[in-house]
Amino acid sequence: MLTVHELEIRYGRVHAVRGVSITLTAGEVVAVLGANGAGKSSLLRGLLGLVHPSGGTVRFDGCDITHRPTSMRVRGGLVLVPEGRRIVMTLTIHENLLMGAFHRRDHRAVAAEIAEIYDRFPHLAARRHHAASVLSGGEQQMLAIGRGLLGRPKLMMLDEPSLGLSPKLSNEVFALIHRLNQENGQSILLVEQNTQRALELADRAYVLELGRVTMEGAPDHILADRALQAAYLGRGRGDDRGDARTTSFN
Ligand SMILES: Nc1ncnc2c1ncn2[C@@H]1O[C@H](COP(=O)(O)OP(=O)(O)O)[C@@H](O)[C@H]1O
Ligand SMILES: [Mg+2]
Repeated sequence: MLTVHELEIRYGRVHAVRGVSITLTAGEVVAVLGANGAGKSSLLRGLLGLVHPSGGTVRFDGCDITHRPTSMRVRGGLVLVPEGRRIVMTLTIHENLLMGAFHRRDHRAVAAEIAEIYDRFPHLAARRHHAASVLSGGEQQMLAIGRGLLGRPKLMMLDEPSLGLSPKLSNEVFALIHRLNQENGQSILLVEQNTQRALELADRAYVLELGRVTMEGAPDHILADRALQAAYLGRGRGDDRGDARTTSFN
């Protein structure tokens, strides 16, 4: 479904993504892990066409989309749930959801899908006509995911959905992502600093460091890596608690 070949992204002198190649098959959850500044968001922006790659190719759903405008990619089913959620706080919850369907003309189907989203998220339904600012961080993330679903994603890309959430709310967000994949067959590209939790639900993962892929494979393979454990999971430095603590990169 997605084949990224040696993608390069630069911001002037900053070389954010350096020859990154990744693949994703329909129905998979693929995680892209890495510390702050590793190039994860830049990679997603490149896939969506929000920044223009200085090299490499992006193939999605059988087409080379490397130079297509973002609007065409979104209509083609590539949807980003951005870092920091980007909810419009002054609009109502309902209006924020509608924004996810801005490019659609099938208004009846949109209304039916919004009803499904309200079934799935009763917290949103109860306050649909309130300003989005009444929502907690976790509920805002649910709203951002609901808005993304209204874009009818063939591939949903999530940029750090657990950022800033308590462990309990993070668990709810990860459980939702897992259900979307298991029950709806949703293909998901999940960018996370929360390695442990992302690897629990991913089929495969890539680790990005300073713009390069330094490790890839099945979650077990990545979790077994000692360097990664020492750097990111707080283990292997004589403090091997062996617990399944939720730890982020920062
Ligand atoms: N708009 C921008 N202009 C210049 N440099 C940027 C811009 N956005 C990101 N960068 C730089 O690119 C690198 C990768 O950033 P980013 O993709 O946001 O990483 P991540 O999402 O993994 O934290 C960092 O060095 C960051 O400072
Ligand atoms: Mg980022």
